[in-house]
Amino acid sequence: MLNYRKKILVAVDGSAVSDKAVYEAVWMAGCSKGAFPNKVYAVFSKVVHSDDYLDMFPISPSPTAGEDDRRWEEIIEMVFLVARKLARENGVELETRVVSGPPAESIIKLAREIDADVIVIGSTGKGRVVRSLLGSVSAEVMNKAPCSVYLVRA
Ligand SMILES: Nc1ncnc2c1ncn2[C@@H]1O[C@H](COP(=O)(O)OP(=O)(O)OP(=O)(O)O)[C@@H](O)[C@H]1O
Ligand SMILES: [Mg+2]
Repeated sequence: MLNYRKKILVAVDGSAVSDKAVYEAVWMAGCSKGAFPNKVYAVFSKVVHSDDYLDMFPISPSPTAGEDDRRWEEIIEMVFLVARKLARENGVELETRVVSGPPAESIIKLAREIDADVIVIGSTGKGRVVRSLLGSVSAEVMNKAPCSVYLVRA
């Protein structure tokens, strides 16, 4: 590994593929500890199809505002669960960010903001349509990223 502190931005949506991306990101970060410990930023955009998250938290027919907030808190908790666990177990510094812009745009914006060295992203995510190649978020990030992109296959 190069001798400077790397910033690794991993995009998470709570899918099995994004958990795999988190695993790779933490592994990448763990490669250099000593004088230049790397840092992982995990980002989740709240702009999602809520139907994709029914497995994590069923929606009640007419949720009150309080219920809806709680539902989001639980989803966010679950989305970052694997990242928190793996980072803790491997002694890797982790910062989690929840953003409220469209996913690809927000990932790219954050990559610029933190001057990320690499974006780690899954090839597909929680979408219901079975895709063989790339989901819409990973395709847009691959096209517009300001830095290298490490695509983790399903
Ligand atoms: N809301 C999100 N916030 C952060 N990262 C995301 C988000 N959605 C997707 N990603 C990242 O992009 C990867 C690919 O997901 P993507 O959404 O492109 O595929 P999909 O869900 O299968 O298809 P689509 O959403 O186009 O129906 C995920 O594994 C994850 O790394
Ligand atoms: Mg998706």
